[in-house]
Amino acid sequence: MTADEAASGSPAPVQERQDAVLRAVRELEQHVARGGWDGPVRLFALVRTVGALERDPALADRLPPDVVSAARADPEHLTLVEQEDLPEASSLGDLLGGLAWPPTVDGAALVTERIVLPPSVEEQMPADPGEAVEWAAAHPARREVRLAAAVLRDGTNGCAVRARDHDLDVDVAVGPDLAAPTGARVIDASGSYLLPGGIDPHTHMQFPFMGTVAADDYYTGTAAALSGGTTMIIDFCIPGPQQSLLDGYRQWREWGEKAVSDWSLHVAITWWSDQVREEMGTLVAEHGVNSFKHFMAYKNALMVDDDVLMHSFTRCRELGALPMVHAENGDIVWLLQKALLEAGITGPEGHALSRPPEVEGEAANRAIMIAGAAGVPLYIVHTSCREAHEAIARARANGQRVYGEPLIQHLTLDESEYRNKDWAYAAARVMSPPFRSKDHQKSLWDGLTSGSLQVVATDHCAFKTEQKRMGIDDFTLIPNGTGGIEDRMAVLWTHGVNTGRLTPSEFVAATSANAAKIFNLYPQKGVIAPGADADLVVWDPAATKTISAATQHSNIEVNVFEGMEVRGLPVITLSQGKVVWENKELKVQRGEGRFVPRPGTAPVFEAMKIRNELRRPVPVQRNPSVHVTP
Ligand code: URP
Ligand code: ZN
Ligand code: ZN
Repeated sequence: MTADEAASGSPAPVQERQDAVLRAVRELEQHVARGGWDGPVRLFALVRTVGALERDPALADRLPPDVVSAARADPEHLTLVEQEDLPEASSLGDLLGGLAWPPTVDGAALVTERIVLPPSVEEQMPADPGEAVEWAAAHPARREVRLAAAVLRDGTNGCAVRARDHDLDVDVAVGPDLAAPTGARVIDASGSYLLPGGIDPHTHMQFPFMGTVAADDYYTGTAAALSGGTTMIIDFCIPGPQQSLLDGYRQWREWGEKAVSDWSLHVAITWWSDQVREEMGTLVAEHGVNSFKHFMAYKNALMVDDDVLMHSFTRCRELGALPMVHAENGDIVWLLQKALLEAGITGPEGHALSRPPEVEGEAANRAIMIAGAAGVPLYIVHTSCREAHEAIARARANGQRVYGEPLIQHLTLDESEYRNKDWAYAAARVMSPPFRSKDHQKSLWDGLTSGSLQVVATDHCAFKTEQKRMGIDDFTLIPNGTGGIEDRMAVLWTHGVNTGRLTPSEFVAATSANAAKIFNLYPQKGVIAPGADADLVVWDPAATKTISAATQHSNIEVNVFEGMEVRGLPVITLSQGKVVWENKELKVQRGEGRFVPRPGTAPVFEAMKIRNELRRPVPVQRNPSVHVTP
């Protein structure tokens, strides 16, 4: 809109041009459906500010004068503004960064239309963006519409709008101040929070373990995740000792093809050789793996010793990859298991007795020491007890980058579960480390509140009762693992936010943002922002339910949270901009989840590289001819 048009006070040209854009968009989509085009990109944008000047008078200094007068003439109406000479950009984030007056103010809604034209016709394109849109409709072209806005009210409630490429039907608008294009779906989220989708960085779908295979595969497991507001998992590829990491990786990628949410992989190091060293490099450089897991437990199976830990952690440092550990002293666990069995303790209670907190605390301290010696950060999975938490807090206070991950199970369920008279009930809760006493739970909550623990995960590794029965006569043979992915967010909200241990923002950090940052997914994931993936959760803090295996999506017949009342639930989940969970129904297609590669060398590694270099030991230069003798 020109200054003259604005002075006339008539909003009609704006509406007309908007409609023209949408018509053009539809026609262009039909062109795309017929053929598509992958040529160079020419960009222009239509930016609408919605009452933004009223909210932020200083914005007037940053906007072109004709835009300011247009907005002042009709502050309630959409103001169509245009910027000539837009930068070329391949993403909305790039485009925003390149705008002379990026609409970063609260309340600004932004619509960009990205028109992709073949170079031959691009030269003929009219200079006026409005005409160009209509003109472009007549040419074979591909377009992409992205909508984005950040309308933050009171610092707590958020709204976002985003459209998927070529798919106006799934445009989503949330919030009172945003205009959605014609044909877009508007979701009224009044009274709810809009959160970035949850990320669970510790799951085991279809995991071959302890003589059986975890009962949730990537299809049922990620479907269960979406129903609980978790839109991405990072699962574990666990090649056995002597197995090639790359073979293992290919196998897990194949299993993961049926995922319905986005997913990624950590890879476990269960042995050491030149081949392992080499393949770690290939995984980081070519396959989007930036984290390697080490088991300090499961003797004679997956366990590695300090020598392997040091070799692997050092290699992680070279690659900019994050080492992770399952911290339990496997030698001591093995000896305690033998002693308990000899003493006639064969039931699930023996599992907890054979893995006391000290065993975890020792391993956590040891792994932290080795990470310090190797000069790498460290991520400790399923931190379950005070000893391990305090080791992490101490290391952090000493300037070491160590991250701790309590599980939602350890935060809310305690060791008394293993003394249940019903064997199947107790066996269903067998996982490593085991549930602890209330004192340990308090320590974990304190760690989340104070920030010494960062991520809440599930270690989702679901087994049916018939599988657990493999250990009916010997607790050491009960497959270790429980479900939880579906309930992680609701249980954490109920016991964390509703009790004042966590703010809603701290909840987002623990369930999504921190994992995205630690595992180098941020800001693609873990945030609602222009350019981020549209993984969103409409979270109703007043919605309630009673958790039950009878209504869960996970493929097992038990739920460790059975009977727990929760308040605070995901009422709608969007994955990649598409509504996948609504009205308690899943709308997913097998295989529509994407494998998300994660580059190595997160910023933290750059920093540590500089630190390591500055602190590199240097030899003392001595002159052999000079002797200082007593
Ligand atoms: O008991 C557990 N945690 N099972 C899964 C494997 C592991 O240790 O993470
Ligand atoms: Zn583990
Ligand atoms: Zn695990």
